[in-house]
Amino acid sequence: MIPKETIDKIFDAARIEEVVGDFVTLKKRGANLLGLCPFHNEKTPSFTVSPAKGIYKCFGCGKAGNSVNFMMDHDQMTYPEALRYLAGKYNIEIEEKEQTPEQLQSQNERESLFVVCAHAQKYFTNNLFHTDEGRSVGLSYFKERGFRDDIIEKFQLGYALEERKAFTKDALSKGYRLDYLVKAGLTIDKTQENPEPGTRNPELAFDRFAGRVIFPIHNVTGRPIAFGGRILKTDKKLAKYINSPETDIYHKSNVLYGLFFAKKSIIAEDNCFLVEGYTDVVSMHQAGIENVVASSGTSLTVEQIRQIKRYTQNITILYDGDSAGIKASFRGIDMILEEGMNVKVLLFPDGDDPDSFSKRVSYEELKKFIADNTKDFIAFKTMMLYSEVSNDPIKRANLIKDIVESIAVIPEAIHRSVYIKECSRLMEMDEQMLLNELNRIRRKRVSDKYRSESGPSENVTSEEVVVETPKESIDPNGIEQQERNIIRVLLNFGDRNLVVTNEDENGESVEASITAAELILHELAQDNIIFKNQAYQFIYNSYSDGIANGQLPDMNSFVNHDDVNISKTVIDLVSSPYTLAEWGRHNILVGTEEENLKATIYKYVNTLKAKYIQRMIDENLKLLKDAADENEIIMFQQKQKQLDEAKSYFNNLLGRIIVK
Ligand code: CTP
Ligand code: MN
Repeated sequence: MIPKETIDKIFDAARIEEVVGDFVTLKKRGANLLGLCPFHNEKTPSFTVSPAKGIYKCFGCGKAGNSVNFMMDHDQMTYPEALRYLAGKYNIEIEEKEQTPEQLQSQNERESLFVVCAHAQKYFTNNLFHTDEGRSVGLSYFKERGFRDDIIEKFQLGYALEERKAFTKDALSKGYRLDYLVKAGLTIDKTQENPEPGTRNPELAFDRFAGRVIFPIHNVTGRPIAFGGRILKTDKKLAKYINSPETDIYHKSNVLYGLFFAKKSIIAEDNCFLVEGYTDVVSMHQAGIENVVASSGTSLTVEQIRQIKRYTQNITILYDGDSAGIKASFRGIDMILEEGMNVKVLLFPDGDDPDSFSKRVSYEELKKFIADNTKDFIAFKTMMLYSEVSNDPIKRANLIKDIVESIAVIPEAIHRSVYIKECSRLMEMDEQMLLNELNRIRRKRVSDKYRSESGPSENVTSEEVVVETPKESIDPNGIEQQERNIIRVLLNFGDRNLVVTNEDENGESVEASITAAELILHELAQDNIIFKNQAYQFIYNSYSDGIANGQLPDMNSFVNHDDVNISKTVIDLVSSPYTLAEWGRHNILVGTEEENLKATIYKYVNTLKAKYIQRMIDENLKLLKDAADENEIIMFQQKQKQLDEAKSYFNNLLGRIIVK
C-alpha cells in the first residue's frame, strides 16, 4: 500500500506537461499545449494539455484525465503502477512496509502475481551470480555467448537450478503461497486444476523452469510478468525455450519482449526494430541499439503492433534471411500496414540473425549495414519475389497483384497513392492500371466486410462504409443532462461573485453580493433536489460543506480524487469545450455562458426543476390510468392540477420555452 501522504506528494510533483511530454510532442498554444493525440490516429492536433488545471483532453476522441490517468491509459498501468512510475520519475521515495505472508494473502490477486514474479526474478538472478551451479553453468553460458555483465544485469537474466523443486521449495519457505506460484506459471501442479485455495499438496508441485537460463519478460512499466527459459544443451527432443503460460498479468498477444527497455529510444529514434528472439533484443542493446523489441513466444499480433504505435509510426522488421523469416516478415508487413503504420524490412544474411550479426561487427558497421539494407516494403517484396518471376508474364502479374494487395490494406488514401507511384516505377507498370487494380481490391474488401457484417447488400459503392448505430438513450427525460449543466457551472464559475436583489423585512429591495455557488445551492436547496448521478451529488455536497465552512472546495481535490468516477467526471466538466475560453477554437459558447452567469444559473436550475416536474407528471398520469377506485382518481387528479400549475410557473420563468 502506498501511504496517502506519498500519493499527495506524487500528485503535487507530477506536472502534466512533463508527464505527457515524455510521450507526445507538445507545442505551446496560448496558456495550453497542443499535440497529436496518442490515443487515436489524427493528422491535425486536438490533444490539449492544460498545465494550470493539471489535465489533458483530446477534443477528437474525448480522452481526458490527470497525470496518473494518462499513464494508466497510455501504458495500461494500474493505479498503483502509475503512482510508482511517477514516483520514480520525480524521485519520490515510496515507503512500503515489508509484507508478511498474511498481508500478501490479503492483497488482490493481480498484485500477488506481480509480487511472486518479482521474487522469482530476484531468485533466478541470485542463482546466476551467487550459486556455484549458477555461475558454472548459467553465467558461463551467457559469457560464452558474449553477453556483458552490465547487459545481463540490465535485462535481469537469471538461472533456474537443475533440482526440480528448488524454486518452489524456497519460495514456500519464504511464505509465498503455492496457489500464486501456480497461477503465476512458475510452479506446475498437474494434480489439480482449480482446487479450493490452500489445498494444493506441495509434494506434487514442480518448478516449470529447471536447469535453464532465464529471460524475464517485463511489462511496459518494467515489472517482471513472465519468463522464458532457454535450454543449455542441444537436445532435439526438448524445446529450446519454455515460456510462462498465459496468466492474469501476462497476456502473450499484448506483450513485446524488451518494450520497457526500448520505449525511450523508440520515441527518440521515431522507429522501432522488430526482431524474432530474446537474444536478438539483448544483443542489439549490447551493440548500442536500444529501440528493439521481439514478439517472443507468439507470432506477431495486432495488439503488439498497437503497443509500438503508442511510441512511433515506423517499424523496421529485422528477421532471419531463411524462408521462415521471410514468410513471417510478409505476414508482419500487411498487419503493420493495416494499422496505418510505415513498415520497412531488413533481412540478415541466411544463417545470421541480429544476435549473431551484431556480435561479429562493430557498432558503425552494424549501423551501416542497417542503413544500406533496409528496404521499403514494396522494394522488399519485389526483390524477394522477382527472382522467381523472371520473364514469365503470368508470374509477373501475380507479383504485381501481391504488392497491390498489400498497398490496398493501407487505411490512408494519400499513402496508398504514394506507394502506387513507387510500385509503378519499380515494376515499370502504368500507374493508372495499378490504381484500377487497387480500387477493385478495395471495393471487394469493403463489400466482403459489409456482407459478412450485415448480410448481402446491393448498393455498396463508396470505399469506406460507415454504419452509424443510434445511441440508446440512457437519460430518457433529460434530467441528467440538466444536472450536468448545473455541476459544470458550479465547477467552472462557482467562485464568481454575483449581485442579487433581495427584499428585506420591510419589503425594500436590497442588493447583496454572493458567489455563483451560493446562488446555485440556494436555488436547489429550496426544493431538496437530489442528483441522479452520484458523482454530481458528491460535488454538490462538497460545495455545500465548503460554503458552510467559508471555503469553496479546491479543484485539485476533485481532479485527483481516489474515486475515478469523480475525477473523470470533474476533468470532463472542467475541460468541456464550452467553458474554456482559452482552449482554442472550441470557445463559441463560452462568452455567453460566463457573461450572463446569473441568467444561465436561473435557466439551468429552473430547467432542472421543470424536468423533475415533468417526470412527476408522467408518473402521476400512469397512476391515474391505473387508479383502483373513485377516491384514487380524485386524489391523482388533484395532484395533476398542482403539477400542471407548477409546470406552467416554470415555463413562464423560462420564457415560455415548453419543457418536455
Ligand atoms: N521460441 C520459443 N520456443 C521455442 C523456440 C523459440 O518460444 N521452442 C521463441 C523465443 O522467444 C525465441 C524466439 O522464438 O527467442 C526466436 O527463436 P530462435 O531464433 O530459435 O531463438 P533465439 O532467440 O535466436 O535464441 P538462440 O539465439 O539462443 O538460439
Ligand atoms: Mn539466435
